[in-house]
Amino acid sequence: MSIKALGYVRIETAKAEAWDHFMTQVVGVMRGDAPAAGVATYRIDGRPFRFWVERGQADRLVAAGYEVGNADELAALRARIARLGREVVDGDAAGAKARGVDAFFATTDPSGNGLEFFCGDKRDDVEFVSPAGVSGFVTGDMGMGHAVFATPNFEESHAFYKVIGFGDTDIPRFRFSDDPQDAGMGFAFMHAANGRHHSVAIAEMPVPPSGCIHLMLEMKTQSDVGKCHDRMRLHKVPESATIGRHVNDQTFGFYMQTPSGFDIEIGSDPLVIDPANWTPTAHLVPSEWGHVWTWQKALEEQQGESA
Ligand SMILES: [Fe+2]
Repeated sequence: MSIKALGYVRIETAKAEAWDHFMTQVVGVMRGDAPAAGVATYRIDGRPFRFWVERGQADRLVAAGYEVGNADELAALRARIARLGREVVDGDAAGAKARGVDAFFATTDPSGNGLEFFCGDKRDDVEFVSPAGVSGFVTGDMGMGHAVFATPNFEESHAFYKVIGFGDTDIPRFRFSDDPQDAGMGFAFMHAANGRHHSVAIAEMPVPPSGCIHLMLEMKTQSDVGKCHDRMRLHKVPESATIGRHVNDQTFGFYMQTPSGFDIEIGSDPLVIDPANWTPTAHLVPSEWGHVWTWQKALEEQQGESA
């Protein structure tokens, strides 16, 4: 049993106008058709949408939608998740049509993070043209990018993602202090059956109200990433981490805050793995250089003031 790729994400927001501005003017993606009242969609490639943004009371990631190979695999995955004691909600035909898939079901991981699984993905012949001049996003077999979730019950969640078909790519414990007694924070970066280093990752921490730590999109070039960083500054979008390069997936990029509170990572030039022949790693630090987080800057300023 394997998962093919991250296909789409669904977001609930009380700030639909802010999302529209963020997506089109800052990230630089294209509006898609509206499948229902109160829903806006955004496309980054030949899929009718990758972002489903629905108006609501809360600001949160509702679900990350992952593709499996066919209807039989979807049924087997559904049965496996139900056997694990997770609630499974079957999608109806109208829901599947709106998502551009043949069939789907919804569930959650052991920390309540929203997931959907589907088969029968659709493409159309609408050409992706960025309203902000992005040359393009890297998707194809590698899917739309990755999603990172928080989980206080780390071991249980890690086991869950393994059982449902993701594979370990990098299983580090990151220490964010100089304290040798610091046990660090568990992370699991896990791949689907494609070359993207991770299509899902989990971090050992309480689940935030936004239901997500970050989503990642891959742009075609470093200039695309740099220009997106310029748009972030121009439109006064809060930067969450400065430009840097990760050790594990080697991605060059930065993080900024979405209107719903979680981050989006914009990157390029990642390591592409062979998922069938990969020995899991356990890196000691997340970044080769850069990626100065907002909380690190605040801490440094505080220490500077008290020195
Ligand atoms: Fe990431």
